[in-house]
Amino acid sequence: MDLSVKIGGKLLPNPVGAASGTIGYGSEYEALVDYRTLGALYTKAITREPREGNPIPRIVETTAGLLNSIGLANVGMERFVTEKWTYLRELPCPVIGNIAGSDPEEYAEVISFLEAHTDLWGYEINISCPNVKKGGITIGTEPTTVERLTRTLRDLTPKPLIVKLTPNVTDITEIARAAEAGGADALSCINTVVGMAIDIHKKRPVIPQKTAGLSGPAIKPIGLAAVYRVRTSVRIPIIGIGGIMEPEDAIEYLLAGASAIQVGTALFVDPHTPDRILKGIKSYMEQEGFTSLQDFHRFWPEW
Ligand code: DOR
Repeated sequence: MDLSVKIGGKLLPNPVGAASGTIGYGSEYEALVDYRTLGALYTKAITREPREGNPIPRIVETTAGLLNSIGLANVGMERFVTEKWTYLRELPCPVIGNIAGSDPEEYAEVISFLEAHTDLWGYEINISCPNVKKGGITIGTEPTTVERLTRTLRDLTPKPLIVKLTPNVTDITEIARAAEAGGADALSCINTVVGMAIDIHKKRPVIPQKTAGLSGPAIKPIGLAAVYRVRTSVRIPIIGIGGIMEPEDAIEYLLAGASAIQVGTALFVDPHTPDRILKGIKSYMEQEGFTSLQDFHRFWPEW
């Protein structure tokens, strides 16, 4: 059974990755995750300078899922290289750098720096963080900017370039097409959905930033629809994200047109989720007589 996923001419060993921001820089989960069976580790966002992130509380559990307003808190590219990369480079799974910035120049500087000082497997370009005033979603909702940024970054690296899309747009397919036109090798689909929680006793939003990003089971139908719509609009592979807790959720994403998936919120509930999902995908493929992941896509043209 072939479980590999081809992205930009390179192979991921299997389709189950750990989403950016949910597994830190790897060492935090060392005792809990078997990195030999992880398809890819997406790092927490890396920016040019270290970032403190937004004021606390910035994570809230709701009955619908997790709300976060982290605000791209991270150690910055220099400390990433000196403090985090030495650990990450030894891991047996592909490590993909999630790149963020306040403007296109910052994205370009981070990629150039990481190209010079690391051997990351590839990059995931985060143009979809809903929790920052500059960069993030302000870049990822404007097709012309998305195309121009992707093209600029394309010229800076031969490595796989994955653009992470926001669901907080009217038409996700026009953003997907812009990223493809700019030279993206794949698309991650989706980042969190803008949401809110109110403290009825204090009579104000629980999170000081007011709105935040919703993740978890509630956003799975949104993610599935986005993957399906993007699948019908571009030819490059799609990595499905959003509410994947169980193997069946991952299988739905693969059937909707994803070539790989990322586990996010579920890692906070059970760190063994990626392994469980990979096993579930394998036994489903065995049952169905699938020999490769492409077999998942045999059905949807008939839908
Ligand atoms: O929901 C999110 N939170 N998406 C991101 O892309 C980044 C993160 C944050 O740091 O706020």
